[in-house]
Amino acid sequence: MSISFNEKYASGFFNADEWAGVEPQIRLAHDMLHNGTGLGNDYIGWRDLPVNYDKDEYARILKAAQKIRSDTDVFIVIGIGGSYLGARAAIEFLKSPYYNNKKKETPDIYFVGNSISGSALSDVLSLCEDRRVSVNVISKSGTTTEPAIAFRVFRELLEQRYGKDGARERIYCTTDRAKGTLKELADREGYETFVVPDDVGGRFSVLTAVGLLPIAVCGADLEQLMKGAADARAKYAVCGPDNDCYRYAGLRNLLYRKGKSMELLVSYEPRFAMMAEWFKQLFGESEGKDNKGLFPASVTFSTDLHSLGQFIQEGSRTMFETVVTFAHTDADVTIREAEDNGDGLNFLAGRTMSYINRKAFEGTVLAHTDGGVPNLVITVDRPDEYNLGELIYFFEKACAISGYMLGVNPFNQPGVEAYKKNMFALLGKPGYEARRAELEARLN
Ligand code: PA5
Repeated sequence: MSISFNEKYASGFFNADEWAGVEPQIRLAHDMLHNGTGLGNDYIGWRDLPVNYDKDEYARILKAAQKIRSDTDVFIVIGIGGSYLGARAAIEFLKSPYYNNKKKETPDIYFVGNSISGSALSDVLSLCEDRRVSVNVISKSGTTTEPAIAFRVFRELLEQRYGKDGARERIYCTTDRAKGTLKELADREGYETFVVPDDVGGRFSVLTAVGLLPIAVCGADLEQLMKGAADARAKYAVCGPDNDCYRYAGLRNLLYRKGKSMELLVSYEPRFAMMAEWFKQLFGESEGKDNKGLFPASVTFSTDLHSLGQFIQEGSRTMFETVVTFAHTDADVTIREAEDNGDGLNFLAGRTMSYINRKAFEGTVLAHTDGGVPNLVITVDRPDEYNLGELIYFFEKACAISGYMLGVNPFNQPGVEAYKKNMFALLGKPGYEARRAELEARLN
């Protein structure tokens, strides 16, 4: 089994009647999602992406990735939020958080345009010195400030280094099919473009060109990724007691109603840390609205057991944990017997780190549930493309079901605009004059 779900460490926190109360709402959410009758139903294209995608574009993605691998040392991926997190999460999950430092045939991949830090951008610029660079700028709206600034800087670098024609061969734009500043610029300059489908929102877009091009550049097997997602689509299509995805969504909702207002996504593998960032955006932007929603947070154990562990064990009882574990890893270290046993660790001789990690998980799950923190456990067979595809789809669908159960539109993000309007006003963007005066008066 590629992914399995275990709720036994949460079972002491609710009774059968509570579950019976939630079940019909899962059915309702399922019907809304499958019949396209729920809020935000113009953004549910992600449901069928694993089987219903543009095959010609998919072939172009593979071709572009091959070219990039052959003519590039540093691949710069520009984007923020949903136009960034999925690709980075997938690359770290499949390869390593140390991917760039490893000996490999594929280019280094750096992500920029996901902050407004001049220091971070100049660090990456310096990593491009004397190396062959290509750029993938990703923005569905084509107007987001952070990536637009970074793209301006990298376009200039490429044009200076390769000339306008040379730069054109190294710039790939992933954006709306027809509209937006980036699309206009790409058409004007003749850059190769890939499409973010109209009915797929940013945080649900990792299985479109948004994620697929960067993921292909790192050498990952896209066929397997899409197959994992397609199999998950079939596996989680039926509303019934065996649907683990729905079980997870329903339990999140049930625990939320019982005062567990925070979900901690836990992993024991550092390679999963960016997946947790992707998860936080997926659930945070989808559910956190109308003064409702679970706050999604994340920790990597055992690292964070030495920082947040105290709080989780004994602090305010407002959270539950969703633990993602792996049945198999792709590499391991075995502890050897030491002659002097000076560190007293010979009782571990012959054991692998994975075994010890497993015991850390088992000990922690029991300690935390004893401390009043329900634990849900998702076991992934191994960190490969197929399982990643399934996991992505599992979380996307659980998020949609969960959002509908909460009574929100899981596919919009109206709150994201508030800071942008203020920032534009304070930066003096034309059209924001009145707001600027008002904000400056408040700041001074
Ligand atoms: O999920 C979302 O819609 C957002 O996080 C966007 O992905 C993010 O704001 C970036 O937007 P864009 O791709 O339009 O630049």
